[in-house]
Amino acid sequence: MFRMLADGTRIPVLGLGTWGIGGREQPDDSRDDEAISAIQMAIDLGLTHIDTAEYYGAGHCEELIGRAIQSVNRKKLFITTKVWPTHLAKKDLIASLYGSLKRLGTDYVDLLLIHWPNPEIPLRETMRTLEECVDKGLTGHIGVSNFSPQLMDEAQSYLKEGWIAVNQVEYSLIDQKPRMELLPVCRKTGVLLIAYRPLGRGILTLPGHTVLDQLAEKYGKTRSQMALNWLISQEGVATIPKSVNPLHLMEIIGAEGWSLDEDDDWDRLANSFV
Ligand SMILES: NC(=O)c1ccc[n+]([C@@H]2O[C@H](COP(=O)([O-])OP(=O)(O)OC[C@H]3O[C@@H](n4cnc5c(N)ncnc54)[C@H](OP(=O)(O)O)[C@@H]3O)[C@@H](O)[C@H]2O)c1
Repeated sequence: MFRMLADGTRIPVLGLGTWGIGGREQPDDSRDDEAISAIQMAIDLGLTHIDTAEYYGAGHCEELIGRAIQSVNRKKLFITTKVWPTHLAKKDLIASLYGSLKRLGTDYVDLLLIHWPNPEIPLRETMRTLEECVDKGLTGHIGVSNFSPQLMDEAQSYLKEGWIAVNQVEYSLIDQKPRMELLPVCRKTGVLLIAYRPLGRGILTLPGHTVLDQLAEKYGKTRSQMALNWLISQEGVATIPKSVNPLHLMEIIGAEGWSLDEDDDWDRLANSFV
């Protein structure tokens, strides 16, 4: 299943998150082989949107993705990376993107996001630079992450021709804030909302939540599949769960192709977490 960006580009509703792969704030090469085979398995299963950032493992995550995709047809992939907030001035942003491209072993990314807003660097300068990166073919699309509706609107106002394709924010059954304000604005303006931490960092996969447990049994699905299906059944939403575990990756794929449509179960599940 895909979502369509404003220019008609298709992006899978389920992608692969990579925070923690190759380290967190510092590089960690102790599980490189496991990470590379998990990324390759994810791609084989159809998780062809890979979400990363220059920040993840201080670049090592991007290096591992680069190694994992060496023999994959680049056109089959949709790669997102993010620029860290201290790199949002023009010169730094361009250097940062070239660094990401080198580590990923690719000439372009499909989507380049501002990882977090930084009020100390003029947003106009950053947005114009992002647009330049599109013009140079270094990224297919541009977007933001962790932006409020107001800031998203401001960012859009600085673009001459382009369009903010995506706002990536935390959104899951345990953090439903975007449902009230941000998601309606995204739908209205044609911005795709990409939900991060869709499994609440794994909390939603644990037993003990009565309604989630009951509905998982009713539908014959796992808790992670319920949590992901709840998200991707919403218009204008895609998501990027992270896993390096082959069994978990297969579970993730099983989150699509069915729906929580009986007896108001979608609402029941949503309301049981608020
Ligand atoms: N833009 C931002 O500021 C921002 C912030 C945070 C995250 N993100 C992006 O969003 C992605 C997803 O968020 P996240 O990684 O923080 O959290 P998440 O996807 O909600 O949860 C990931 C955790 O769940 C575990 N897991 C996955 N499937 C499971 C299953 N079926 N059963 C049990 N455990 C399971 C994973 O462990 P295993 O690997 O062992 O399966 C991992 O520990 C990140 O990886 C990153 O790409 C972006």
